[in-house]
Amino acid sequence: MVNPTSIGRDSYNKVLTSIANHHATIKESLPMIASENIPSPAIKEAMACDFGDRYAEGWVGERVYAGCKYLDEVESVAIDLGKKVFHSEFIDVRPISGVFANMVAYTVFSNPGDVLMACTIPTGGHISHSKESLGGTAGLVRKLDVQNYPFDEEAFTIDVDKTSNLVKELSGKGKTPKIFMLGASVFLFPHPVKEIINIAKSYDSKVVFDAAHVAGLIAGGLFQDPIGDGVDAMTMSTHKTLAGPQHGTIVSWNKYAEPIKRAIFPGLSSNHHLHAVAGVAIAFAEALEFYHEYAKNIVINSKTLAQALYERGINVLYEKKGFTESHMMLIDVTKYGNGFEIEKRLEAANIIVNRNLLPYDKRMGRDYRAPGGIRIGTQELTHIGLGKSEMVEVADLMKKIIIDNAEPRSVVKEVADLRKDFQKVRYCFSSETDAYAHIKIR
Ligand SMILES: Cc1ncc(COP(=O)(O)O)c(C=O)c1O
Repeated sequence: MVNPTSIGRDSYNKVLTSIANHHATIKESLPMIASENIPSPAIKEAMACDFGDRYAEGWVGERVYAGCKYLDEVESVAIDLGKKVFHSEFIDVRPISGVFANMVAYTVFSNPGDVLMACTIPTGGHISHSKESLGGTAGLVRKLDVQNYPFDEEAFTIDVDKTSNLVKELSGKGKTPKIFMLGASVFLFPHPVKEIINIAKSYDSKVVFDAAHVAGLIAGGLFQDPIGDGVDAMTMSTHKTLAGPQHGTIVSWNKYAEPIKRAIFPGLSSNHHLHAVAGVAIAFAEALEFYHEYAKNIVINSKTLAQALYERGINVLYEKKGFTESHMMLIDVTKYGNGFEIEKRLEAANIIVNRNLLPYDKRMGRDYRAPGGIRIGTQELTHIGLGKSEMVEVADLMKKIIIDNAEPRSVVKEVADLRKDFQKVRYCFSSETDAYAHIKIR
């Protein structure tokens, strides 16, 4: 019989060893998953503090628990700064993730059975905006009838005229959309927010912009300004281009404050991860101070990397539109294999990206398991200080793997050499601790 005590001890050691190994690897890697980032040391401190062991149900100053004095102070700071960062009347920092924030918007602005307009996944949409048949949050959990925007593949954006016609048609059948969802997971160019608001207005529908990916760019005054344009709510993750902790937030107007607060508590949560709220407060403080520069450099790095890859023969899409206006780019790798194979080869060289569906993959008979594309984000490399010349070096290393079919292990050392001088988070108040350092107890 297996000794349960030794299973416990062995597993304990295994977990701590895996954590240490992960840290040793990531600091010698090129992390370019477009939905991730490395938070500043101060945010790491917040994430490790006692707030994470507490409850503070309810709104600031109206908690239904005792012991919330400092938790309230911090959440007030997060609220005040968040309103400044996004120039908004109202913000609730309690959603514990981006998907959660979308559920809040669905709860406030729709009822089960209502129609929601959203992008398909191959055209950039997120699973939380998707149909029940795909397991999407909107369909499966909120029971919304998800209809998809007609999409202009050439321009990689929503086709406004065709959308207007589709909505007329849906309305004629008694299926007027209640929510127009904007924002995406493959988000290269701004969405037509003003145009969609114009359509929505004639049907008295709501427009929600999912800024999960681009919140940091918006905070830095780039990409687009959905709240300024008048969307009803903007949801986000707080950990992609906005380099905070893994958490969520919803930004809106005073007229929707009460239903939003009620949907979050008691509707959808009890504990709202108070250590993460502290991290979000620090991320907002960093955004006010540093993101004008940080967001600008993210986009410069994306364009530089896209151009350098393109010049080396890699099929970066949307060259005619300048490849991207955001932190990410989309690559068709079908000349060299499929997205899964290329992702694995790059991973073996410690170049971390993710395979992704291309807008035309379905027509070509490809699915998410072996799609034709790779998505690359520059926000984390920018955060640790890599600039234009390093982006060209990154392109050289990627070419070795993708085109020259180099043995990935032979590239590992070159990746580590490139990373050697970039071990601190920039665009933050204090960078004394190494970016990828972790708290060790043994
Ligand atoms: C557009 C979009 N919305 C929401 C999410 C989910 O965010 P979270 O992981 O914070 O729930 C993602 C994740 O990448 C996303 O791309």
